[in-house]
Amino acid sequence: MKKQSKITVLLRMIKLVRPLTGFMILAVFLGTMGFLTAEFITILGGVAVTKALGGNIPLSLKTIFILLPVFAILRAIFRLSEQRTNHYIAFTLLAIIRDKVFRALRKLCPAKLEGRDKGDLISLITSDVELLEVFYAHTISPICIAIVTELLMCIFIGSFHPLLGVVALISYLCVGVLLPVIISKRSGTMGDELRAMSGELSAHMLENIRNIDDTMQYAYGEVRLKEIGEKTEELSRKQGLLSKLTGTNMALANTMILISDIVMLAVCALLYQSGRIDFTGFLIPLIALMSSFGPVTALAALGTTLQSTVASGARVLAVIDEIPVTEDITGKEKSEFSGVEVKNVTFGYETYETKMNAGYDHDKEILKDVSLNVNSNRIIGIVGKSGCGKSTLLKLLMRFWKVKEGEISISGKSIEEINTDNLREMESYMTQETQLFKDTIGNNVRIGKLDATDEEVVEACKRASIHDFIMTLPKGYETEVGELGSTLSGGERQRIGLARAFLHDAPFILLDEPTSNLDSLNEAVVLKSLKESAKEKTVLLVSHRQSTMRIADEVITMDGGRFS
Ligand SMILES: Nc1ncnc2c1ncn2[C@@H]1O[C@H](COP(=O)(O)OP(=O)(O)O)[C@@H](O)[C@H]1O
Ligand SMILES: [Mg+2]
Repeated sequence: MKKQSKITVLLRMIKLVRPLTGFMILAVFLGTMGFLTAEFITILGGVAVTKALGGNIPLSLKTIFILLPVFAILRAIFRLSEQRTNHYIAFTLLAIIRDKVFRALRKLCPAKLEGRDKGDLISLITSDVELLEVFYAHTISPICIAIVTELLMCIFIGSFHPLLGVVALISYLCVGVLLPVIISKRSGTMGDELRAMSGELSAHMLENIRNIDDTMQYAYGEVRLKEIGEKTEELSRKQGLLSKLTGTNMALANTMILISDIVMLAVCALLYQSGRIDFTGFLIPLIALMSSFGPVTALAALGTTLQSTVASGARVLAVIDEIPVTEDITGKEKSEFSGVEVKNVTFGYETYETKMNAGYDHDKEILKDVSLNVNSNRIIGIVGKSGCGKSTLLKLLMRFWKVKEGEISISGKSIEEINTDNLREMESYMTQETQLFKDTIGNNVRIGKLDATDEEVVEACKRASIHDFIMTLPKGYETEVGELGSTLSGGERQRIGLARAFLHDAPFILLDEPTSNLDSLNEAVVLKSLKESAKEKTVLLVSHRQSTMRIADEVITMDGGRFS
């Protein structure tokens, strides 16, 4: 991820609002009117007083007393509509940003999710995107509202005497610009740290709940309990610091406002004495200034959140910008499956470290000059020690990653020249870890072929030797996996994965350790089905189990990224 300056990030985030410019203008208008009506309630009070004291006011007392409640009602209406509009803007934008992030992730996957930064990605999708709501609903428009409102107030106050307008302008700048900068400097990354710490505490708690068995077995409880205690204490200490800081920030803001009021009073008094303003001109600007700090004090609070919002924005934009490991291919001619050729393929994962250290690292190569021919209607077995690169080879055949050197071709065509949809149709890939969705068992199998009939699903399950098990469940194929998720054994999950692969019914079947968790009885059933499939299909079978290799027409041994 390349580093972007804070200003660039802010500008890009603001650019995202463009489709909602109309609503944005509406929000600023409503917000400005809301503040102005509120301020003019106080100012009208002052006007009434000057009138009563015989000041030169063009309004009658009656009009003033009618205007007061009207302004109060308008104030409430404006305020409510402004908040509605801002939240509409924020949530519409969040939807747009989420959509962008998911689109980007879809392009980046699965390579991106395989990387070691899975945890970061999840926090990005949830908390970072969420934090941007603050930016759109409570940052952009308050700034615009403050600028418009206070400019109008400067003009109003300045209409009594230009010098008073200048005093007002300086006061607003101090509270609305200088103060947020000071506060932002003072609080620094405290908000971020606090959020990270509370996230860590909940992750720690979840881990404790999940690992309760091991914790009890090894009497690890005391240690974990102590850790919780320490984390909680540290969190409350930080929280205390932050609220103290917020307190002093408030005091600072109030002091600045007070000083501004005193300066205004002094300047008004001087101008009044020298006869440059009358009594009305003395009282009204003073009241106007005193009652008009609302929009700028709203900005003071931004100082504490702006840093973390920009950081979140930068992370989200970085994902949107990231270049995928493999792009989807479209627009090529459709091809039928007729054998696979792997020619002198060399590959190493591009990790965060290799990217930082000037790119590709030959010492970290996982596959070294691997060649392999898989002809139709045969079962090829690959055996090899754990970590030698068997799963990696399958992922390359799926084009989840790109080879560094050499070429993989299917039906005589490089897989870089085959439409991604076409490739997925031709391949049934069963991963080492079958993941289940929170849905019925039937639907979990149906992922292999979304329009499959019930009969087809049952047939696939029979071949994967899982049908009998499913029939023992209370609701058969309609049983929710969510309820069983953790109670399904590794072997049961594995057979569901196999059923998916059988149902997908592609000419080329890639199986990554399909039998590692099966007992010999289930293994026998599964192998028999596979052997039958291979009459019209091509199977690439990865396993470290010799018994599984029994059905292979040819067995290749892999060692340290090479075939031997
Ligand atoms: N996404 C990844 N990023 C970086 N290294 C990886 C990634 N996936 C696997 N590896 C590494 O590549 C090597 C080969 O892994 P793999 O192909 O899964 O081996 P096998 O399936 O033969 O056990 C291992 O050292 C593993 O740690
Ligand atoms: Mg593996």
